[in-house]
Amino acid sequence: MITVSTIAELRAARQCLPDPVGLVPTMGFLHEGHLSLVRAARDECAGVVVSIFVNPTQFGPKEDLSIYPHDLPRDLRLLEAEGVDLVWIPTVEVMYPPGYQTWVDVMDVTKPLEGAMRPGHFRGVATVVAKLFNAVQPQKAYFGQKDAQQAVVIQRMVQDMNFPLEVVVCPIRRDADGLALSSRNVYLNPAERQAATVLSRSLLAVQTAYQSGERNASALRKIIAAMIEAEPLAHLQYVSCAAPDTLQEIEGVITGRALLSMAVYVGATRLIDNLVLGE
Ligand code: PAJ
Repeated sequence: MITVSTIAELRAARQCLPDPVGLVPTMGFLHEGHLSLVRAARDECAGVVVSIFVNPTQFGPKEDLSIYPHDLPRDLRLLEAEGVDLVWIPTVEVMYPPGYQTWVDVMDVTKPLEGAMRPGHFRGVATVVAKLFNAVQPQKAYFGQKDAQQAVVIQRMVQDMNFPLEVVVCPIRRDADGLALSSRNVYLNPAERQAATVLSRSLLAVQTAYQSGERNASALRKIIAAMIEAEPLAHLQYVSCAAPDTLQEIEGVITGRALLSMAVYVGATRLIDNLVLGE
């Protein structure tokens, strides 16, 4: 496994890899969710590149950039064990050198949900991912359904900007009690960690209601809102029932597929989770 930092080193090492190359973009502090993407890439591609970069431009001024968890030696051990070929760990100066002033702005699909709560977030995500794609030139790129809107934004950008690659979206990996794996779960104290199961429990309740025939979008949103509000340590930021591709909110009855998603504060920690109905 080769580890590089600069664009020149990355390009030189990339050229030596057999095609097709799969890229797994991450911000590090890897867990089984990240590793499931790496395994999918390892299964489907001849060369596997993982990037580790805590991208400052996707964090708001009041977000957790400065305390974002990291453990690079552990990440490198895990990636080596998965048979990764190349790890790219750029510095902020490599990605955003002095004078940097070019941004990728995806329009409508970045407006609701996470985009409404985190202004500028998807501009930072789309820009850094476009830069990763340009530098690595992968044939496939792997993203998690955990960040459902991010996956939609990246797919839109790839289509609109004619990036010659396939976006692969992998299922959400969860702990045994249902909590979706996230680097931010380490912020939870034991009581909060227990309370955090309310996100996946509320999605299960929605799935049960859907299976019993409930098709009213606002009734499904209310199931989630009521369960989150009943958990004293949790505070609902938003709940949504939207079309999975456009992310437009569904009013009335669900006909096709629907993306149920939410953002919830558990204590000071902001968690997201989602479920696609009708698959
Ligand atoms: P990060 O939060 O490190 O996540 C990297 C990838 O892992 C994302 O595609 C995310 O959706 C996926 N992932 C996270 N938790 C998961 C889980 N429980 N199950 C399945 N996949 C999971 O997302 C980012 O980094 C950044 O925004 C990035 C795309 C790297 C751009 O900076």
